[in-house]
Amino acid sequence: MPHTAAAATGTTAALPTDKELVLKVIPMPGDTNVNGDIFGGWVMSQVDLAGCVLPMRLAQGRIATVAVKEFVFNQPVRVGDVLSFFAKIARVGRTSITVEVEVFAERLTQQGAYVKVTQAVLTYVAIDEAGQPRPVHASL
Ligand SMILES: CC(C)(COP(=O)(O)OP(=O)(O)OC[C@H]1O[C@@H](n2cnc3c(N)ncnc32)[C@H](O)[C@@H]1OP(=O)(O)O)[C@@H](O)C(=O)NCCC(=O)NCCS
Repeated sequence: MPHTAAAATGTTAALPTDKELVLKVIPMPGDTNVNGDIFGGWVMSQVDLAGCVLPMRLAQGRIATVAVKEFVFNQPVRVGDVLSFFAKIARVGRTSITVEVEVFAERLTQQGAYVKVTQAVLTYVAIDEAGQPRPVHASL
């Protein structure tokens, strides 16, 4: 059951059932912006890390982020939130892998209630030792 205080805000969300939990992290005071909320660039870097987990498994080797197609910040992230990153592979091309990432926060005093804070779509490319694209299917 969602925590009642969070439920009262109308922002509690059900966790995705079609995605894998690939990362959990707690932002610290050093990750804040001038407003005291968590800096968006910090969140983006965590999403990039979370997004690469499934492509790395698929590519069985080096990958590089080639594009972030969409980034939506729905709610602020705060110090002490427990962030959960869920991902699924949306598309596998010849050398590229596109991933959808959703991020949910459990607020410091509302553990067990999830607020969706951001989502993004990222594309990674499998690369060889020279940094050139290599076919993904060769490693499937
Ligand atoms: C990733 C990189 C090796 C791709 O090289 P490239 O010469 O552009 O390669 P290609 O044009 O053959 O494209 C490779 C794949 O990326 C995809 N791609 C390229 N640009 C893209 C874009 N803007 N959006 C989505 N996919 C893209 C292509 O469609 C292709 O996918 P496919 O093989 O599945 O069809 C090169 O762009 C690079 O080194 N970029 C820097 C990566 C990096 O340092 N990332 C960290 C950022 S700090």
